[in-house]
Amino acid sequence: DWTMAEFRQVKIAEIREQVGEGRVICGLSGGVDSAVAAVLIHEAIGDQLTCVFVDHGLMRLGEAEQVVSLFREHYGIKLVHVNAEERFLGGLAGLTDPEKKRKFIGGEFIALFEEEAAKIGGADFLAQGTLYPDVIESVSFTGGPSVTIKSHHNVGGLPERMNMKLVEPLRELFKDEVRVLGRELGLPEIFVGRHPFPGPGLAIRIPGEVTKERCDILRKADAVYLEEIRSAGLYDAIWQAFAVLLPVRTVGVMGDYRTYDSVCALRAVTSTDGMTADIYPFDAAFLSRVATRIINEVKGINRVVYDYTSKPPGTIEWE
Ligand code: XMP
Repeated sequence: DWTMAEFRQVKIAEIREQVGEGRVICGLSGGVDSAVAAVLIHEAIGDQLTCVFVDHGLMRLGEAEQVVSLFREHYGIKLVHVNAEERFLGGLAGLTDPEKKRKFIGGEFIALFEEEAAKIGGADFLAQGTLYPDVIESVSFTGGPSVTIKSHHNVGGLPERMNMKLVEPLRELFKDEVRVLGRELGLPEIFVGRHPFPGPGLAIRIPGEVTKERCDILRKADAVYLEEIRSAGLYDAIWQAFAVLLPVRTVGVMGDYRTYDSVCALRAVTSTDGMTADIYPFDAAFLSRVATRIINEVKGINRVVYDYTSKPPGTIEWE
Protein backbone atom coordinates (compact mmCIF):
# COMPACT_ATOMS: atom_id res chain seq x y z
CA ASP A 1 0.00 0.00 0.00
CA TRP A 2 1.71 3.07 -1.40
CA THR A 3 1.28 6.13 0.81
CA MET A 4 2.45 9.68 0.28
CA ALA A 5 4.68 9.33 3.33
CA GLU A 6 6.52 6.56 1.50
CA PHE A 7 6.53 8.48 -1.77
CA ARG A 8 8.12 11.39 0.06
CA GLN A 9 10.92 9.21 1.44
CA VAL A 10 11.53 7.47 -1.89
CA LYS A 11 11.70 10.79 -3.74
CA ILE A 12 14.02 12.31 -1.17
CA ALA A 13 16.38 9.38 -1.64
CA GLU A 14 16.12 9.67 -5.43
CA ILE A 15 16.80 13.41 -5.39
CA ARG A 16 19.88 12.92 -3.18
CA GLU A 17 21.09 10.16 -5.48
CA GLN A 18 20.55 12.22 -8.65
CA VAL A 19 21.92 15.49 -7.35
CA GLY A 20 24.85 14.33 -5.22
CA GLU A 21 26.86 17.38 -4.23
CA GLY A 22 25.42 19.39 -7.13
CA ARG A 23 23.61 22.65 -6.96
CA VAL A 24 19.95 22.95 -7.89
CA ILE A 25 18.03 25.98 -9.00
CA CYS A 26 14.24 25.86 -8.86
CA GLY A 27 11.81 28.27 -10.40
CA LEU A 28 8.79 29.14 -8.30
CA SER A 29 5.66 30.18 -10.17
CA GLY A 30 3.40 30.88 -7.22
CA GLY A 31 1.50 27.68 -7.99
CA VAL A 32 1.12 24.51 -5.96
CA ASP A 33 3.33 22.35 -8.16
CA SER A 34 6.55 24.33 -8.01
CA ALA A 35 5.96 25.04 -4.31
CA VAL A 36 5.65 21.35 -3.47
CA ALA A 37 8.62 20.45 -5.66
CA ALA A 38 10.76 23.10 -3.97
CA VAL A 39 9.87 22.08 -0.43
CA LEU A 40 10.48 18.40 -1.24
CA ILE A 41 13.83 19.14 -2.83
CA HIS A 42 14.77 21.43 0.07
CA GLU A 43 14.03 18.59 2.45
CA ALA A 44 16.33 16.35 0.42
CA ILE A 45 19.30 18.64 -0.14
CA GLY A 46 18.82 21.77 2.00
CA ASP A 47 21.06 24.65 1.03
CA GLN A 48 22.16 23.07 -2.23
CA LEU A 49 18.81 24.39 -3.46
CA THR A 50 18.27 27.98 -4.48
CA CYS A 51 14.80 29.03 -5.51
CA VAL A 52 14.28 31.71 -8.06
CA PHE A 53 10.99 33.50 -8.09
CA VAL A 54 10.66 35.30 -11.36
CA ASP A 55 8.14 37.99 -10.66
CA HIS A 56 6.95 38.62 -14.20
CA GLY A 57 4.33 41.13 -13.14
CA LEU A 58 1.70 38.68 -14.34
CA MET A 59 0.72 37.36 -10.92
CA ARG A 60 -2.58 37.77 -9.16
CA LEU A 61 -3.19 40.38 -6.47
CA GLY A 62 -0.87 39.94 -3.47
CA GLU A 63 0.57 36.68 -4.77
CA ALA A 64 4.18 37.71 -5.13
CA GLU A 65 4.36 38.85 -1.49
CA GLN A 66 2.84 35.55 -0.34
CA VAL A 67 5.40 33.47 -2.20
CA VAL A 68 8.34 35.42 -0.84
CA SER A 69 7.14 35.31 2.75
CA LEU A 70 6.33 31.59 2.66
CA PHE A 71 9.64 30.46 1.22
CA ARG A 72 12.08 32.90 2.67
CA GLU A 73 10.57 33.47 6.10
CA HIS A 74 8.61 30.29 6.82
CA TYR A 75 10.86 27.65 5.28
CA GLY A 76 14.16 29.52 5.30
CA ILE A 77 14.79 28.45 1.72
CA LYS A 78 17.36 30.45 -0.23
CA LEU A 79 15.22 32.59 -2.47
CA VAL A 80 16.14 35.03 -5.19
CA HIS A 81 13.28 37.38 -5.94
CA VAL A 82 13.71 38.72 -9.46
CA ASN A 83 11.55 41.70 -10.27
CA ALA A 84 11.26 41.33 -14.04
CA GLU A 85 7.95 43.02 -14.69
CA GLU A 86 9.38 45.61 -17.06
CA ARG A 87 11.34 43.05 -18.98
CA PHE A 88 8.31 40.80 -19.49
CA LEU A 89 5.85 43.56 -20.29
CA GLY A 90 8.40 45.13 -22.60
CA GLY A 91 8.81 41.89 -24.52
CA LEU A 92 5.08 41.23 -24.60
CA ALA A 93 4.37 44.63 -26.16
CA GLY A 94 2.85 44.13 -29.58
CA LEU A 95 2.50 40.34 -29.20
CA THR A 96 -1.03 39.04 -29.72
CA ASP A 97 -0.59 35.48 -30.97
CA PRO A 98 -1.11 33.05 -28.02
CA GLU A 99 1.78 30.76 -28.93
CA LYS A 100 4.12 33.70 -29.47
CA LYS A 101 3.17 35.06 -26.05
CA ARG A 102 3.76 31.66 -24.43
CA LYS A 103 7.04 31.14 -26.27
CA PHE A 104 8.31 34.58 -25.32
CA ILE A 105 7.45 34.10 -21.64
CA GLY A 106 8.91 30.58 -21.57
CA GLY A 107 12.09 31.74 -23.27
CA GLU A 108 12.45 34.71 -20.96
CA PHE A 109 12.05 32.45 -17.92
CA ILE A 110 14.84 30.23 -19.14
CA ALA A 111 17.05 33.24 -19.86
CA LEU A 112 16.44 34.60 -16.37
CA PHE A 113 17.16 31.23 -14.78
CA GLU A 114 20.46 31.13 -16.60
CA GLU A 115 21.34 34.64 -15.49
CA GLU A 116 20.46 33.89 -11.88
CA ALA A 117 22.25 30.56 -11.98
CA ALA A 118 25.34 32.35 -13.24
CA LYS A 119 25.06 34.91 -10.43
CA ILE A 120 25.08 32.24 -7.73
CA GLY A 121 28.12 30.66 -9.34
CA GLY A 122 26.39 28.12 -11.54
CA ALA A 123 23.90 25.32 -10.97
CA ASP A 124 24.00 21.77 -12.22
CA PHE A 125 20.29 21.08 -12.13
CA LEU A 126 17.06 22.85 -12.89
CA ALA A 127 14.13 21.68 -10.76
CA GLN A 128 10.56 21.92 -12.00
CA GLY A 129 7.13 21.01 -10.70
CA THR A 130 6.13 19.20 -13.87
CA LEU A 131 3.14 16.90 -13.38
CA TYR A 132 2.02 13.87 -15.32
CA PRO A 133 -0.70 15.72 -17.27
CA ASP A 134 1.88 18.36 -18.32
CA VAL A 135 4.05 15.60 -19.71
CA ILE A 136 1.25 14.07 -21.76
CA GLU A 137 -0.37 17.26 -22.99
CA SER A 138 2.90 18.68 -24.20
CA VAL A 139 3.61 15.60 -26.25
CA SER A 140 0.33 14.80 -27.92
CA PHE A 141 -3.39 15.18 -27.75
CA THR A 142 -4.93 11.92 -26.57
CA GLY A 143 -6.58 10.05 -29.41
CA GLY A 144 -5.38 12.47 -32.04
CA PRO A 145 -2.31 13.19 -34.08
CA SER A 146 0.80 14.32 -32.28
CA VAL A 147 0.28 18.06 -32.15
CA THR A 148 1.10 20.58 -29.46
CA ILE A 149 -2.06 22.14 -28.06
CA LYS A 150 -0.23 24.71 -26.00
CA SER A 151 3.42 25.20 -25.14
CA HIS A 152 3.55 24.72 -21.39
CA HIS A 153 6.58 26.73 -20.56
CA ASN A 154 7.55 24.51 -17.68
CA VAL A 155 7.98 21.55 -20.04
CA GLY A 156 8.47 22.55 -23.63
CA GLY A 157 10.79 25.03 -25.22
CA LEU A 158 13.85 24.33 -23.11
CA PRO A 159 16.57 25.60 -25.40
CA GLU A 160 19.39 23.24 -26.28
CA ARG A 161 21.88 25.75 -24.97
CA MET A 162 20.66 25.21 -21.41
CA ASN A 163 23.39 23.47 -19.58
CA MET A 164 21.46 22.03 -16.65
CA LYS A 165 19.91 18.64 -16.09
CA LEU A 166 16.28 18.45 -14.98
CA VAL A 167 15.02 17.41 -11.55
CA GLU A 168 11.29 16.74 -11.79
CA PRO A 169 10.16 14.82 -8.71
CA LEU A 170 6.43 15.19 -9.43
CA ARG A 171 6.41 13.79 -12.96
CA GLU A 172 4.33 10.77 -11.98
CA LEU A 173 1.72 12.68 -10.01
CA PHE A 174 -1.68 14.12 -10.72
CA LYS A 175 -2.76 17.38 -9.13
CA ASP A 176 -4.80 15.81 -6.33
CA GLU A 177 -1.77 13.70 -5.38
CA VAL A 178 0.47 16.77 -5.35
CA ARG A 179 -1.91 18.35 -2.86
CA VAL A 180 -1.74 15.29 -0.62
CA LEU A 181 2.05 15.43 -0.82
CA GLY A 182 2.00 19.16 -0.05
CA ARG A 183 -0.03 18.55 3.12
CA GLU A 184 2.32 15.70 4.00
CA LEU A 185 5.18 18.22 3.72
CA GLY A 186 3.36 20.67 5.97
CA LEU A 187 2.65 23.37 3.40
CA PRO A 188 -0.06 25.76 4.61
CA GLU A 189 -3.56 25.00 3.40
CA ILE A 190 -3.87 28.33 1.61
CA PHE A 191 -1.04 27.17 -0.66
CA VAL A 192 -1.96 23.53 -0.95
CA GLY A 193 -5.65 24.08 -1.59
CA ARG A 194 -5.13 26.92 -4.02
CA HIS A 195 -6.38 26.70 -7.56
CA PRO A 196 -3.78 25.94 -10.23
CA PHE A 197 -2.17 28.97 -11.84
CA PRO A 198 -0.39 28.73 -15.19
CA GLY A 199 3.27 29.67 -15.54
CA PRO A 200 2.58 32.40 -18.13
CA GLY A 201 0.21 33.93 -15.58
CA LEU A 202 -2.24 36.62 -16.49
CA ALA A 203 -0.71 36.98 -19.97
CA ILE A 204 -2.80 34.03 -21.19
CA ARG A 205 -5.90 35.48 -19.55
CA ILE A 206 -5.59 38.69 -21.54
CA PRO A 207 -6.22 37.69 -25.15
CA GLY A 208 -4.54 40.21 -27.42
CA GLU A 209 -1.81 42.56 -26.26
CA VAL A 210 -0.79 42.46 -22.61
CA THR A 211 -0.14 45.81 -20.96
CA LYS A 212 0.41 46.86 -17.36
CA GLU A 213 -2.91 48.67 -17.40
CA ARG A 214 -4.78 45.57 -18.57
CA CYS A 215 -2.99 43.41 -15.98
CA ASP A 216 -4.10 45.81 -13.25
CA ILE A 217 -7.71 45.78 -14.46
CA LEU A 218 -7.73 41.99 -14.62
CA ARG A 219 -6.14 41.62 -11.16
CA LYS A 220 -8.94 43.68 -9.64
CA ALA A 221 -11.74 41.81 -11.39
CA ASP A 222 -10.18 38.45 -10.55
CA ALA A 223 -9.84 39.40 -6.87
CA VAL A 224 -13.51 40.42 -6.66
CA TYR A 225 -14.60 37.15 -8.32
CA LEU A 226 -12.45 34.99 -6.03
CA GLU A 227 -13.54 36.91 -2.95
CA GLU A 228 -17.19 36.19 -3.80
CA ILE A 229 -16.40 32.53 -4.46
CA ARG A 230 -14.66 32.20 -1.09
CA SER A 231 -17.38 33.95 0.84
CA ALA A 232 -20.02 31.75 -0.81
CA GLY A 233 -18.01 28.75 0.45
CA LEU A 234 -17.47 27.46 -3.10
CA TYR A 235 -13.69 27.74 -3.45
CA ASP A 236 -12.85 24.12 -2.64
CA ALA A 237 -15.60 22.71 -4.84
CA ILE A 238 -14.03 24.39 -7.86
CA TRP A 239 -10.87 23.23 -9.64
CA GLN A 240 -10.07 26.63 -11.07
CA ALA A 241 -11.87 29.94 -11.27
CA PHE A 242 -10.55 33.12 -12.82
CA ALA A 243 -11.45 36.18 -14.80
CA VAL A 244 -10.37 36.80 -18.39
CA LEU A 245 -10.08 40.29 -19.86
CA LEU A 246 -11.26 40.35 -23.45
CA PRO A 247 -9.86 42.58 -26.19
CA VAL A 248 -13.37 43.68 -27.02
CA ARG A 249 -15.06 46.88 -25.97
CA THR A 250 -18.80 47.26 -25.84
CA VAL A 251 -21.17 50.10 -25.16
CA GLY A 252 -22.83 50.46 -21.79
CA VAL A 253 -24.56 53.02 -19.63
CA MET A 254 -23.55 54.09 -16.12
CA GLY A 255 -25.84 56.68 -14.57
CA ASP A 256 -26.24 59.36 -17.19
CA TYR A 257 -23.14 58.39 -19.11
CA ARG A 258 -22.42 56.18 -22.05
CA THR A 259 -19.46 53.87 -21.41
CA TYR A 260 -17.28 52.07 -23.93
CA ASP A 261 -15.16 49.57 -22.00
CA SER A 262 -13.80 46.04 -21.96
CA VAL A 263 -15.68 42.78 -21.53
CA CYS A 264 -14.67 40.47 -18.71
CA ALA A 265 -15.35 36.74 -18.97
CA LEU A 266 -15.63 34.57 -15.86
CA ARG A 267 -14.41 30.98 -15.98
CA ALA A 268 -14.93 28.27 -13.35
CA VAL A 269 -14.51 24.55 -13.87
CA THR A 270 -14.50 21.31 -11.95
CA SER A 271 -11.88 18.70 -12.82
CA THR A 272 -9.70 16.08 -11.23
CA ASP A 273 -6.56 16.48 -13.30
CA GLY A 274 -7.07 19.43 -15.63
CA MET A 275 -7.20 17.17 -18.68
CA THR A 276 -10.96 17.29 -18.90
CA ALA A 277 -13.23 19.77 -17.17
CA ASP A 278 -16.87 20.68 -16.69
CA ILE A 279 -18.17 24.17 -16.15
CA TYR A 280 -19.16 25.02 -12.61
CA PRO A 281 -22.93 25.65 -12.48
CA PHE A 282 -23.18 28.82 -10.38
CA ASP A 283 -26.69 29.97 -9.66
CA ALA A 284 -27.86 33.09 -11.46
CA ALA A 285 -27.99 35.21 -8.29
CA PHE A 286 -24.31 34.51 -7.59
CA LEU A 287 -23.23 35.42 -11.11
CA SER A 288 -25.24 38.60 -11.21
CA ARG A 289 -23.80 39.65 -7.83
CA VAL A 290 -20.27 39.16 -9.15
CA ALA A 291 -21.06 40.95 -12.41
CA THR A 292 -22.53 43.94 -10.58
CA ARG A 293 -19.57 44.20 -8.23
CA ILE A 294 -16.99 43.97 -11.01
CA ILE A 295 -18.72 46.58 -13.13
CA ASN A 296 -19.14 48.92 -10.16
CA GLU A 297 -15.68 48.43 -8.69
CA VAL A 298 -13.37 47.88 -11.63
CA LYS A 299 -12.80 50.82 -13.89
CA GLY A 300 -12.34 49.68 -17.47
CA ILE A 301 -14.90 46.85 -17.42
CA ASN A 302 -18.55 47.47 -18.26
CA ARG A 303 -19.79 44.01 -19.20
CA VAL A 304 -19.36 40.54 -17.66
CA VAL A 305 -20.10 37.21 -19.34
CA TYR A 306 -19.84 33.60 -18.12
CA ASP A 307 -17.96 30.95 -20.08
CA TYR A 308 -20.08 27.81 -20.53
CA THR A 309 -17.50 25.72 -22.40
CA SER A 310 -16.37 22.38 -21.03
CA LYS A 311 -13.00 20.75 -21.86
CA PRO A 312 -12.94 19.33 -24.44
CA PRO A 313 -13.75 21.04 -26.74
CA GLY A 314 -12.51 24.15 -24.91
CA THR A 315 -9.29 24.37 -22.93
CA ILE A 316 -9.45 25.69 -19.37
CA GLU A 317 -7.34 28.75 -20.11
CA TRP A 318 -8.31 30.94 -23.03
CA GLU A 319 -4.89 30.83 -24.66
P1 XMP B 1 -5.59 24.09 -20.46
O1 XMP B 1 -5.82 25.53 -20.70
O2 XMP B 1 -4.55 23.50 -21.38
O3 XMP B 1 -4.99 23.98 -19.01
O4 XMP B 1 -6.87 23.27 -20.46
C1 XMP B 1 -4.89 22.79 -18.28
C2 XMP B 1 -4.30 23.15 -16.94
O5 XMP B 1 -2.94 23.55 -17.11
C3 XMP B 1 -2.75 24.87 -16.64
N1 XMP B 1 -1.80 25.50 -17.56
C4 XMP B 1 -0.49 25.65 -17.31
N2 XMP B 1 0.24 25.33 -16.24
N3 XMP B 1 2.17 26.20 -17.31
C5 XMP B 1 1.57 25.64 -16.25
O6 XMP B 1 2.25 25.37 -15.27
C6 XMP B 1 1.50 26.55 -18.43
O7 XMP B 1 2.06 27.06 -19.39
C7 XMP B 1 0.09 26.25 -18.41
N4 XMP B 1 -0.88 26.45 -19.33
C8 XMP B 1 -2.05 25.98 -18.78
C9 XMP B 1 -4.12 25.50 -16.65
O8 XMP B 1 -4.21 26.59 -15.75
C10 XMP B 1 -4.99 24.32 -16.27
O9 XMP B 1 -4.95 24.09 -14.87
